[in-house]
Amino acid sequence: LERTFSMIKPDATRRNLTGAITKALEEAGLRVVASRRVWMSRREAEGFYAVHKERPFFGELVDSMTAGPTIVQVLEGENAIARNREVMGATNPADAAEGTIRKTFALSIGENSVHGSDAPETAAQEIKYWFSDTEIVG
Ligand code: GTP
Ligand code: MG
Repeated sequence: LERTFSMIKPDATRRNLTGAITKALEEAGLRVVASRRVWMSRREAEGFYAVHKERPFFGELVDSMTAGPTIVQVLEGENAIARNREVMGATNPADAAEGTIRKTFALSIGENSVHGSDAPETAAQEIKYWFSDTEIVG
């Protein structure tokens, strides 16, 4: 089984969607094997999204990720990385397919409710950024 890193972003926790989004992930065949609620510092958000630091939206991204609590999660399942990306839908909710989490819940490209790792290397890095091995219980 594969593991991926997932976040339920502040725009979603603010609207009390933690359960609804977790249910959609579970129904897609993913299992939550680690979970924690965190209010990110700017430093944590900047570190996590360092790959985007030259992008014009970086400041907005850090603002939105530090605006409230985030649920950081490790998900496990068959092809978990691709499966999660599929159930999340496109980055911009306007482009997301019907029935995806972003189509159903996201407000805009900036407030798009969820994050999911995009490849095995980034999944490993991102899991390690937020969790120690003993916190992940499969
Ligand atoms: P993640 O799962 O969050 O990584 O989404 P992604 O892989 O579909 O998108 P990408 O890695 O390209 O961008 C990371 C995050 O930056 C997105 O989820 C958005 O929240 C945010 N983002 C991307 N493009 C824009 C933009 O044009 N404006 C704003 N405000 N935010 C953006
Ligand atoms: Mg990405």
